[in-house]
Amino acid sequence: MCGIIAITTSSKTNVSKMITDSLKKLEYRGYDSVGVATINNGKIEILKDIGMIDKVNKRLSLENLRGTIGIGHTRWATHGAINQENAHPHSDCKGNIIVVHNGIIENYLDLKKTLKEKGHFFSSETDSEVIAHLMEEELKQDNPNSSKINAFKRVINKIEGTYAITLIHSKDPETIFLARKDSPLVIGVREDTKFAASDIPAFLEYTKQVIVLKNGEIATLTPQAVYIEKNGFRVQPKPVIISWTAESAQKSGYPHFMLKEIHEQPIALKNTLNIDPRVIEKASNKILEAERIIFLACGTSYHAGLSGYHQFQRILKKRPLYKVIASEYETYSHLIDEDTLIIAVSQSGETLDVMKGLGAARKTRASIISVANVIDSSIPRLSQIALYTKAGPEIGVAATKTHTAQVALLARLALQIEHDVGLLNTTEFNENLGTLVTEAPQITRTIINQNEFKAKELAAKISNQNHAYFLARGYNLPIALEGALKLKEISYIHAEAFPAGESKHGPIAIVEPDFPVVIISPNDWTAKKMLSSTEEMRARGAYIISVTEEGHNIIERSDYPFILPTSLSLLRPITHILPLQMLAYYAAVKRGFDPDKPKNLAKTVTVE
Ligand code: M6R
Repeated sequence: MCGIIAITTSSKTNVSKMITDSLKKLEYRGYDSVGVATINNGKIEILKDIGMIDKVNKRLSLENLRGTIGIGHTRWATHGAINQENAHPHSDCKGNIIVVHNGIIENYLDLKKTLKEKGHFFSSETDSEVIAHLMEEELKQDNPNSSKINAFKRVINKIEGTYAITLIHSKDPETIFLARKDSPLVIGVREDTKFAASDIPAFLEYTKQVIVLKNGEIATLTPQAVYIEKNGFRVQPKPVIISWTAESAQKSGYPHFMLKEIHEQPIALKNTLNIDPRVIEKASNKILEAERIIFLACGTSYHAGLSGYHQFQRILKKRPLYKVIASEYETYSHLIDEDTLIIAVSQSGETLDVMKGLGAARKTRASIISVANVIDSSIPRLSQIALYTKAGPEIGVAATKTHTAQVALLARLALQIEHDVGLLNTTEFNENLGTLVTEAPQITRTIINQNEFKAKELAAKISNQNHAYFLARGYNLPIALEGALKLKEISYIHAEAFPAGESKHGPIAIVEPDFPVVIISPNDWTAKKMLSSTEEMRARGAYIISVTEEGHNIIERSDYPFILPTSLSLLRPITHILPLQMLAYYAAVKRGFDPDKPKNLAKTVTVE
């Protein structure tokens, strides 16, 4: 949550334009307010206000600030109202030290009290502002010419909580100071310019050489050099070259990132399923060694984990398997020991709830496999085996291509396990694998193309509704849960998903004529019972939308059926979510909302 960018360059360019462009690429992380600060001729210049970048930029001309060093921030409010004072950057009393921060400083009230007693004047209600004042206070102890890094290190030692911090000082006009703990921060390296940002797409246009700052590391950037240390010891930076292209982080003619990302699913699946078989075999061995397995994730990634859970359950039968929403991990802590394997699923690889769960699991020496999209992010680094989805950068807040890529990767893993436990011989395994790898991208493309217009038409029909239900049974429930999450998070139509059989135990009470009910019903063992649930809803006048397959009786009992080809059961959590992603997208657009930036949400959730 919150997007940070900092740039220092020896070229004669003003960095504010680059900072503003980078902030636009980070806007998915928060968009309550925005601000930019630069150092120009030894003086700090700051502009900030509430609202989205383009509007604030138009009002204040953020991109016209002068100076070859600067920092920027796009905010998702935690401490303090959404107002101009609380917008980042924040400064010390004299306006020499400027800071932007992502995370939460847990001891800020105590620090603020002490600093106020020492005469510091605070301009905002944020936790972040204490960092600038602490730096001011620490520098008082040092010779004005001594290196500021020592004061910065003392500041970092004093703060508790989670943080990605970038700080600049008007008297050190080439240096950016960085620190990170549990909130992401990556460094971009170009010969004459160095970048620090919350996420790689922020500077992808300028460089593909990336250094991921690790927890507990402190760094300084100057136009020519990157210096990193941890616990007082120098760390040799290891840049990696990112294969993502600058274009992959742009809309490329689509009106929104979400629509572009929906259409990118065939290629995301193709790339993801092209994974090195040795990594999958290693993961399968680890799974088979474990006494119990816990899927740990949040939101859409949790729904992918649920699909994995059902696949694994079918194969591993009596092996204890659990599915845990990461923010609830404490409730399951009694299950976690050295014989436990956690499968952590996370697009960003930075979700704090998941990281906290993994932190606790590591203390018990549990094993960890992760499924993540962002290379070298925190969650893969906490794992013994990191499996990567190759979906490319996902900018829309609502996860689409990364979700189906996660499901595909877990399906690939399930197939390997099925082979390794002897349920599939090598010929059957190779056949199924071939089908998965070739069919998933093809069928996905076909379904998107055949159903996009229908999804748009249906969205127009239901866009004036306030509620919707999504029903399914058994292993199809994750599809209903994900469909409901997509619709509610971007169109703000209240959407609830539950096992179809539960409706008569309460939810059906509010069904009235035209109430939209989405029925997920493939041609499988759930079909008959889903038909009964459909009839119960129809009897109350519900408007039945079905996601079903050719030949299913439900088609004629539906007001609006999406009729998909009957596919491999492994593929259903991928294929059957596609019309619902498009329905959510077009419902949001029809209702006049920006699907890429739903209110109150951020792409990467780095607070508990
Ligand atoms: O980065 P992660 O996959 O760990 O994020 C988890 C959730 O925050 C995320 O899936 C969220 O639910 C999305 N907004 C869903 O579209």
